[in-house]
Amino acid sequence: MDSWSHILRLLVIVVAVVIPSSEQISVDGGRDRRATQLDDALEFLTDYNSTAEMVYSASSFASWAYSTNITDYNQMKEVEASLKAAAFSKSSAMRAREFDDVIETFPEDVQRLLGSISDIGVSALDNDTVQEYNEIMGEMNKIYSSTPVCRADDPSECLNLEPGLGNIMATSTDWDELVWAWKGFRDAVGIPNKPLFARYVEIANQGAVANGYEDLGDSWRSGYGDDLEDQAYELYNAILPLYKQLHAYVRRKLNGVHGSEHVPLTGHMPANVLGDMWGRFWTNIYPHVVPYPDLPNIDVSDEMVRQNYTVCKMARMADEFYSSMGLFPANDEFWENSMLERPDGRDVVCHASAWDFYNRVDFRIKMCTEVNMDYFLTLHHELGHIQYYMNYKHQPVSFRGGANGAFHEAIGEVMSQSVATPKHLKEVGLFDGEDDPTDVTDTDINFLLKMALPTIGTLPFSLALEQWRWDVFSGKTDVNAGTARWWQLKNDLIGVKAPVDRTEDDFEAGAMYHIIISYPFIGYYIRTIIQFQFYQSLCQSASHTGPLHKCDFYRSTEAGEKLAAMLSMGSSRPWPEAMEALTGQREMKADAILEYFQPLMEWLEKTNTENGDVIGWESPTVTTQESTTAGGPSALGNASLWMMCLFAVISSIIHGY
Ligand SMILES: *[C@@H]1O[C@H](CO)[C@@H](O)[C@H](O)[C@H]1NC(C)=O
Ligand SMILES: *[C@@H]1O[C@H](CO)[C@@H](O)[C@H](O)[C@H]1NC(C)=O
Ligand SMILES: *[C@@H]1O[C@H](CO)[C@@H](O)[C@H](O)[C@H]1NC(C)=O
Ligand SMILES: *[C@@H]1O[C@H](CO)[C@@H](O)[C@H](O)[C@H]1NC(C)=O
Ligand SMILES: *[C@@H]1O[C@H](CO)[C@@H](O)[C@H](O)[C@H]1NC(C)=O
Ligand SMILES: [Zn+2]
Repeated sequence: MDSWSHILRLLVIVVAVVIPSSEQISVDGGRDRRATQLDDALEFLTDYNSTAEMVYSASSFASWAYSTNITDYNQMKEVEASLKAAAFSKSSAMRAREFDDVIETFPEDVQRLLGSISDIGVSALDNDTVQEYNEIMGEMNKIYSSTPVCRADDPSECLNLEPGLGNIMATSTDWDELVWAWKGFRDAVGIPNKPLFARYVEIANQGAVANGYEDLGDSWRSGYGDDLEDQAYELYNAILPLYKQLHAYVRRKLNGVHGSEHVPLTGHMPANVLGDMWGRFWTNIYPHVVPYPDLPNIDVSDEMVRQNYTVCKMARMADEFYSSMGLFPANDEFWENSMLERPDGRDVVCHASAWDFYNRVDFRIKMCTEVNMDYFLTLHHELGHIQYYMNYKHQPVSFRGGANGAFHEAIGEVMSQSVATPKHLKEVGLFDGEDDPTDVTDTDINFLLKMALPTIGTLPFSLALEQWRWDVFSGKTDVNAGTARWWQLKNDLIGVKAPVDRTEDDFEAGAMYHIIISYPFIGYYIRTIIQFQFYQSLCQSASHTGPLHKCDFYRSTEAGEKLAAMLSMGSSRPWPEAMEALTGQREMKADAILEYFQPLMEWLEKTNTENGDVIGWESPTVTTQESTTAGGPSALGNASLWMMCLFAVISSIIHGY
């Protein structure tokens, strides 16, 4: 049951082999000292584990109390708990570093544990600098979360990002309105964040250097192995032919909506017509691009409402999907304490998230769920995190995490992929259109296009965004020349352009949440690739035959067993081993995602050819490989709150959005 002591036992066995007999010890002082130091390290790790559970638990509960009930008092308690946790992390890191000289001689598990405890980012810097960092991060967050955009002709009419501006970007087909919201948000939020961001880069880099990295980008990449950049571009090149077909198809459809003046039929697409503030997820433009609009809708939102679905029913169904595969059902504590709907009478942070309270009992999700298909899939996504938490709860605290930054986000996505198939929706009585198990029908093309928008459509976006930050952290790009580089990457990698002229007075990065809270982004890119590898392998376990995209592994305990084997490893082993446990492969590969979308690729090629479309866009600037270097909580108020964010990030990831 208690595998921490199991690990310790294993270590003792290893040690027993290494430690010489007592006679030898007396003549070999070096070995003696080393053995004692290993004992010290093991003792420290045991202490750390039990104290860390308490400290992080307290911090998570305080953070939960605030996020589900925003009051000054709860805010104060949360900051208090976060500061305690920060102090604990720092003192533990100092202690862990005392073993730096001998760590190489320790067993690998011990090395990994000590390594993860000693990496504490900017907290490694002196108090004044940490204080300044916290204030900067708090300030950027405040600007981002609370600056409204007001109408020029009516200054009293102001909109915030959520829901106001976001709704415009998602649903408006009025070009001027889309430009107003897009530019207005960047003027109001991006520009004021620029000087703060420049200073953040300096301090964050100092923190990375203090932890033994070249810069923060290097630190972020380290979790993925040595050649992440090469791998990222290899994957990019693999999906590029499909992306370009999708790009050309979407461009023609949006040309139909906005006209040639705004969306020409060749070249780059403007970035403000793609369904959200950043052009990140194209999901919202589905109604404009659906290939066969007359077929029964594979977005079953209306059907859910017609059948009187409730949030509770949706959540129970999502849970049942996991347990049908022999995975853990959510426990009683989960059902008693989760926040599934927006409560009356208090302010809450609605952003969907899944929480681990580090006590091996409490796992919860927090969502303001409404009855529609999007939320139905989000429930499966969040329960994916919960499933991961439950599977690795026996690991020491330091190993309770995803195998790398992408794994955690991939799990729920894989489940959602299975749930969204017409086959599965038919099985649960939500869809009654055609579903042929072997043939690729028009319904399949609708389905695949819908799946491609938030996956294929977002991959180049993720890479361009992170490449920009890697360049800024490494010093290749100066923040004051950041706009030019930003659009160069967007032009080249994504095939989009700014809808209005931009200059170095603008600052696009300051208007992106993940950037101003210093949240690594490449994980979103990698997760989109590996989720298809996971899917393919779960489908093989479920003995699926026929086209890959039709696979639903509901009720397959064989698939569940494979998945659990990987989940229960947490971050205790290097990620290729975790991937191997599930897929038998040790590498990130684009094969699965390409196989999945092959029928769509064929359809797009045919359709684009019939339309006479010119695929791709002119890229007058650098090629992708050359361009690589060597190298929410919307209610958050003030600067000191940054600490809280830091620890909220440990327990609740920024889910998918
Ligand atoms: C970690 O500490 C907790 C709390 O003291 C303890 O119960 C648990 O057995 C330890 N080990 C693991 C693997 O959680
Ligand atoms: C919200 O927090 C306040 C403390 O600031 C507390 O008095 C109140 O009971 C909480 N409300 C709920 C519903 O938990
Ligand atoms: C930094 O702050 C911590 C906690 O407030 C304190 O314990 C520590 O002594 C300070 N260190 C320095 C060098 O001032
Ligand atoms: C949904 O609820 C309405 C009103 O209570 C009821 O008339 C209707 O029959 C229900 N529909 C289904 C499919 O249960
Ligand atoms: C946080 O902001 C409030 C008002 O917005 C202010 O009274 C308080 O002093 C601030 N706290 C800190 C630690 O800066
Ligand atoms: Zn997530």
